[in-house]
Amino acid sequence: MKPARIHICPDGVAIAEAVARRWGELAAAAIADRGVFHVALAGGGTPRLLYETLAAPPWRDTLDWSRTQVFFGDERSVAPDHDESNFRMARESLLDHVPLPAANIHRMAGEHRPLDEAADAYAATLEALLPRDDSGCPVFDLVLLGLGPDGHVASLFPDTPILRERGRWVAAVYVEKLQTWRLSLTFPVLDAARHLLLMVAGENKRQIVQAVLGDDSGADRYPVQMLRPHGELAWYLDEAAARDLPPQPTLPCAAP
Ligand code: 6PG
Repeated sequence: MKPARIHICPDGVAIAEAVARRWGELAAAAIADRGVFHVALAGGGTPRLLYETLAAPPWRDTLDWSRTQVFFGDERSVAPDHDESNFRMARESLLDHVPLPAANIHRMAGEHRPLDEAADAYAATLEALLPRDDSGCPVFDLVLLGLGPDGHVASLFPDTPILRERGRWVAAVYVEKLQTWRLSLTFPVLDAARHLLLMVAGENKRQIVQAVLGDDSGADRYPVQMLRPHGELAWYLDEAAARDLPPQPTLPCAAP
């Protein structure tokens, strides 16, 4: 496993600008190599800043949206027009503002019941549209992730059975602390991605960043520590979240 790259940015907007540039590089390379860019979006406020950046010049006008296939890393168990919907957030901040064909947008059906059927349907979509690795796992070019203060990524929350799911690419999970169901990609799919980019901003992430990036014990105390990326894992932290980061090699915000 390659060591994670850690970029330190002034604030969330700088993270968004740096990740937009990285998105552009990865999309150009994927399209040049395979004719298509497969990306999974994350929910949350930090990823939203990225989407708003991509929905404005220059990215809106220069990225090849016709060859971009947009998926989701997780979804809440709500309708696509619900306030809590990750799809709605992505649609309002990005998808409605770029020339992305509707056929290129693949949302998780959080409104469907039983939710397990929605998970299986989404896994079938991944299997149909994405290249697969030697184990048959769908391979994204890029999976975007935020990080919760409890160390969750996507909807892989602490002390939930989905953390142990290795046989399914997508699963439904009841999150006790939130008293709600979620849909999420599972670790095998996250690990198989060519690039995982974690966007972490804000004072409220200081403790989890220190706990994770300051821990060289190799223990999997938080879900984010359970990632075993086959490709690149890059952290984009703002200065507030990185305040207690112990001394270690870091990169400038926009370093390639
Ligand atoms: C979700 C996201 C979740 C999010 C993190 C960080 O559905 O909420 O997938 O994993 O990315 O909780 O969110 P913030 O950037 O808003 O703190």
